[in-house]
Amino acid sequence: MAFLFLSKSDKVHIWKEELTRLIPDLDFRIWPDAGDPEDIDFALIWLPPEGELERYPNLKVACSLGAGVDHLMKPGMVPDHVPIVRLVDPQMSRQMREWILYAVLRLHREMPIFEAQQRDGIWKSHPNPETAETTIGILGIGELGALAGRSLAALDFNVMGWSRSPKEIEGIDCRHGADGLDAVLENSNIVVCLLPLTEETRGILDAKAFARMPRGASVINAARGAHIVDEDLIAALDTGQLAFAMMDVFHTEPLPSDHPFWSHPKVTITPHVASLTPPGSSAPQIAENVRRMRAGEPLLNVVERSRGY
Ligand code: NDP
Ligand code: OXD
Repeated sequence: MAFLFLSKSDKVHIWKEELTRLIPDLDFRIWPDAGDPEDIDFALIWLPPEGELERYPNLKVACSLGAGVDHLMKPGMVPDHVPIVRLVDPQMSRQMREWILYAVLRLHREMPIFEAQQRDGIWKSHPNPETAETTIGILGIGELGALAGRSLAALDFNVMGWSRSPKEIEGIDCRHGADGLDAVLENSNIVVCLLPLTEETRGILDAKAFARMPRGASVINAARGAHIVDEDLIAALDTGQLAFAMMDVFHTEPLPSDHPFWSHPKVTITPHVASLTPPGSSAPQIAENVRRMRAGEPLLNVVERSRGY
């Protein structure tokens, strides 16, 4: 049987080296040179062409090359009988934590104001915001959100978190459900989105959500672009309801050159780099799932298709 690497990643040869070091008998094939489709039993995928996976009648596992799987949930992307697994990698969680901490501290200490002052040659101080009076609300306190949240709590911020099911995480005021979302939005000076993109979370950061937030609050999005309604965000920034937005992810990537985010003075963007999949640290869990598939054992990090993540 054979392993298919199905992504346009420029790191394919690193993945091959890492995975064949861990599984010496791995027959590693690189799409589109899949060989006989009947040979393929494990596919490592990012954005496969729609219907492509239907070509492999013996496919047993589809593994996302990232933590998110929203792009694989569309009907026709992964055949219903094939389990989808995703990556849960401590190094990815640490990268995301760094990006979130940087974004929070940048907005908390109002760096965009000082950057604008520097451009205009203005020397002017402003009162520093009190950390202990600042609440960071994290929407999505799973693998990535919980680590970032605990680290923000260690810096003495008040941290609130929102999840689908009730949770207890030390240092985080955990809420869930519709009431929980309102409480997090209403109390947060900075809202961080680390939710998976599902039918329930699409467009969750819209005009209604921004209106619930305290005037002058900020938004950070490192999850998926479609969590935000772009026009509503721009309107909230322009009226002063929101102070700043920092975003790593967008509805269309690369962000189109005429998108207003590029030049908006209250927006900072990065090109979907908050956490990049590291082959060295992720290969062992993929190899372990290959081993489990071969042995008929339960797989790691299986996505629940019914809930979409
Ligand atoms: P997890 O599945 O571990 O965590 C998701 C969290 O969101 C959980 O707390 C879950 O609740 C909560 N959640 C899901 N649906 C709802 C809902 N309807 N209402 C309330 N809470 C909800 O995911 P990860 O932390 O691993 O990843 C999160 C996302 O980050 C990924 O899906 C991906 O889109 C994005 N990402 C972005 C990267 C980047 O570079 N920008 C890199 C990697 C990931 P519960 O705990 O109850 O299940
Ligand atoms: C992911 C991502 O989901 O990089 O892993 O966005």
